Amino acid sequence: MAALNLHKSFDLWQQALALIPGGSQTMSKRAKNFAYGAYPIYVDHAKGAHVWDVDGNEYIDYVMALGPVTLGYRYPCVDQAIRDQLEKGIVFGLLSPIEVEAARELVDAIPCAERVRFLKSGAEATSAAVRIARAFTGRQKVASCGYHGWHDQWSAGRNDGGIPEILKDYTIGFAFNDASSAEKVFAAHPGEIAAAIITPTGRGGPDPGYLEALRKLTSKHGALLIFDEIVTGFRLARGGAQEYFGVVPDLACFAKGMANGMPVAAVVGRRDVMQKAENLVISTTYGGEALSLAALVAACREYRTKPVFKAIWQRADQIASGIDAAAQRHGFGKVCDSLSPMATMQLTSANHPDADPQEMWFYVLQECASRGVLLRRGGCLFVTYSHSEEDAQKTVAVVDEVLRDLRTHLEKGDLARELRKCDEDQADDIRART
Ligand SMILES: Cc1ncc(COP(=O)(O)O)c(C=O)c1O
Repeated sequence: MAALNLHKSFDLWQQALALIPGGSQTMSKRAKNFAYGAYPIYVDHAKGAHVWDVDGNEYIDYVMALGPVTLGYRYPCVDQAIRDQLEKGIVFGLLSPIEVEAARELVDAIPCAERVRFLKSGAEATSAAVRIARAFTGRQKVASCGYHGWHDQWSAGRNDGGIPEILKDYTIGFAFNDASSAEKVFAAHPGEIAAAIITPTGRGGPDPGYLEALRKLTSKHGALLIFDEIVTGFRLARGGAQEYFGVVPDLACFAKGMANGMPVAAVVGRRDVMQKAENLVISTTYGGEALSLAALVAACREYRTKPVFKAIWQRADQIASGIDAAAQRHGFGKVCDSLSPMATMQLTSANHPDADPQEMWFYVLQECASRGVLLRRGGCLFVTYSHSEEDAQKTVAVVDEVLRDLRTHLEKGDLARELRKCDEDQADDIRART
């Protein structure tokens, strides 16, 4: 397939690298994480499930801002709610009534939510949740499974600089889907663990009984159970993974999906536990920012009155099973794992023992993008309420064709020659080629 014209994207990226360390505000959105040289970098605008890059190319999007857009880009009633609130003001020195309305929506939707505090990012919500848990239990350590954001306590284990070493002793990791792993953490730190925090789906979904076992274990040790529902919330079900799996934690953190892309997060939970937040310094100037809360109320109303999550499951099942069938047809085996609304496509040496997974991914991203479909290397395929039947059919057809050609190039041994790869400083080469 012909190379895309990406001149404006590469011009902007060169300027960004000179102004913004790393070039982006979110690590996962950096150009090198996709297929640098053959994949768009900058979006101009979006509508529904489609984005248009700055060079005018149109794509069906599955990267979807990394998860916060549940209904689709520029969803009319959410955007109207933002415009209506804009007429009144963005943020005030006194409180805004929309804070009460938004809190009521979350209490109505989420099983564990009796009280609510709003914040701005997922990491803020997970940090607030563990502070509340420490204050409630009088204990200092936290058992943790999964990614919970960039703040010090979550990054201390891998510490690539800038984090006090001592913090790693306060956040102790445990393995997903292995109840004995969490048990060992409690046994090694008797009476010291304030809470276990977990992303309830892990990568592939919990084994039957696993979340129930964690629920029992935390209660037995007088610790709290915290669900990080930043991806699962308003995606698996209106009430998140806790509704979907029927296991209710003491506290939970929500962000993506709650306001169809507007920046708002929440820590929610049991009345007695959350009441601790009254006297803790969990406070930000923008916590009650009204445009995001107006978007949240409008999105939550839509979740309450339309079959949003049923439709997302159906469309996501259609896409993941279509991709799997194509992959099997072309000899790659099953490539999609996890629950389909957050299906993750894998291409590893298990899919083709003789191929370099990096090269296979580069080819798939490059060729899908040039056919108008944006995927993400090893990341969730985020399907929204706006992905249509036509989008799904086109996506499956594109992936089918690309995997068929990938197979041919692997057999001929000429895959490396097909990759329009280049280094980040080779923008001129890209301009010459496209
Ligand atoms: C499960 C989970 N928790 C927490 C976070 C952090 O959220 P944020 O990037 O909004 O701080 C993320 C971000 O991707 C996430 O996937």
